Amino acid sequence: MKVLLIDINARVINHWAKGLGNLLKSGEVSIHNGSLESFEPNGLLKSIVSPGNSFGFLGGGFDLAIQEYFGGSLFERYVRYKLMHSYVPVTNCTVIPLNQFSRDQFQYLLHIPTVVTPVVPDYDRRDPVHSGYRIVFDVTWNALHFPPSETEQLVLPGLCTGYAGVPIPIACKAMCFAIRLFYLKSILSQDLINTMIMCFMGYQYEPFISEDCLMECQKVGIDWDTMHRFNPHEDPLDSILPSGY
Ligand code: ADP
Ligand code: NA
Ligand code: NA
Repeated sequence: MKVLLIDINARVINHWAKGLGNLLKSGEVSIHNGSLESFEPNGLLKSIVSPGNSFGFLGGGFDLAIQEYFGGSLFERYVRYKLMHSYVPVTNCTVIPLNQFSRDQFQYLLHIPTVVTPVVPDYDRRDPVHSGYRIVFDVTWNALHFPPSETEQLVLPGLCTGYAGVPIPIACKAMCFAIRLFYLKSILSQDLINTMIMCFMGYQYEPFISEDCLMECQKVGIDWDTMHRFNPHEDPLDSILPSGY
């Protein structure tokens, strides 16, 4: 599955471009600086992420663009019906087939609340790791793992970079880390991936980290102490990722 990142905000675009390592060159990930409406169909079967709210209204930000793209207020009614008009906690992913609303090879909507309601941001600048990096990582991780297997390209905007109010450098760094880990699953053990996630979020817990993991780190060129001490707010992503990825 390929990833297409799309956003109207040039700052979001710049932070993605800096944080994605080799994924742009290799073609796994591409970036579109522009609106959803200006996006050119490319023949790939697609799922699109709606960075929504817990009640399924599509009245603002990228959700509004999605609503307008797929049929207006009738589409919002359809999405809320599919969510059973029920409360959905932040970061939960609901896969909604677009069915009669499908166009331009978009087949599924992945609805993931990034806010309960847009009234007040959850982001707390005294605790960026847990109120910023972790939330955005979790939303991105779900976006990458929930698309049905026929999805050839996952389309997503900046997550938590609008109404959710996470500072753009923080949100983009967490998105880039989740995307890079997703593609590293083919070369790293699940154990090491899990350990990297613990370290990124500040939940290093020795009993959950295996001896093999330390050896694997050495093999792929990750410095164990650097990873163990990693703080996403201070350290570059490249310092906990294998060199060349
Ligand atoms: P969140 O609640 O997760 O912050 P928003 O929908 O408010 O989600 O914003 C997410 C991102 O969508 C922002 O980075 C914003 O620049 C981008 N965005 C908003 N409208 C559009 C659009 N029409 N096309 C492309 N990107 C958009
Ligand atoms: Na949102
Ligand atoms: Na939105």
